[in-house]
Amino acid sequence: MRHDRHSAIGVFDSGIGGLTVLRALHERLPQESTVYLGDTARVPYGTKSGDVVTRYSVKNAEALLEYGVKLLVVACNTASSVAIPTLRQELPIPVLGVIEPGAKAAAQVSKTGHIAVIGTPGTVKSGAYQRALLAERPGVQVEALACPLFVPLADEGWVEGEVPALVAKQYLSGLARTQVDTLVLGCTHYPLLSKVISQVVGPAVTLVDSAKAVAQRAAEVLGERDLLKTGLSAVERHYLVTDVPDRFIEVGSRFLGRPLSGARQIDLKFG
Ligand code: DGL
Repeated sequence: MRHDRHSAIGVFDSGIGGLTVLRALHERLPQESTVYLGDTARVPYGTKSGDVVTRYSVKNAEALLEYGVKLLVVACNTASSVAIPTLRQELPIPVLGVIEPGAKAAAQVSKTGHIAVIGTPGTVKSGAYQRALLAERPGVQVEALACPLFVPLADEGWVEGEVPALVAKQYLSGLARTQVDTLVLGCTHYPLLSKVISQVVGPAVTLVDSAKAVAQRAAEVLGERDLLKTGLSAVERHYLVTDVPDRFIEVGSRFLGRPLSGARQIDLKFG
């Protein structure tokens, strides 16, 4: 399907976490229509191999292309860390991941040049943040840690209190003894736990959530290609999921920060 400046922005994630990125997109580009796809039938991506996540990502992108989207935002750190080169090669539209904008923001914020990144096992193993940070700021020292239990905690809405605090302490207390002054929340779910994370690492460590940086970059990319929507045509917001939508609607409202309605189930064909 052909796209023009009135087409929507396509956004996908393994599930609901990417709604934190969608929320930032809606705030930065309120005039733009969006189609969000959560691959809730195949979540989580964070514990799967790079090849499998890339295959899922291509299917998600193809489904969004059917909506004639003009830009693809990969609102999943794990997919961004492994699938961007393939998506850029195969798609006829610009593709934006969350890693580069997040790394850029962190490289700018850090004073000590000692930065930590937390993410899923897949994201950490890929080394994508480590590479992006070094490309942004040569000589920077990077610690990368996988914090897999943060994802189910955020999914359950268990983001404050004793249990998440204990988990955060277990994962992150070592960082408090380093020169790290910047911590990248390299997973879509982690911004929901930023309060407990901040309590463990202390006020001297700045938390970087890539969502805002991604939304800013999306605005720049559309501007550079003359694809920003002009005029007052209606704003459409579509939500697609690959499993039944009930839980997506319930938990998704928390991620999006407002009630979410009208999610539709679709089937991705894997040949
Ligand atoms: N969306 C994933 C990410 O940002 C977290 C959830 C998952 O493992 O699929 O890495």
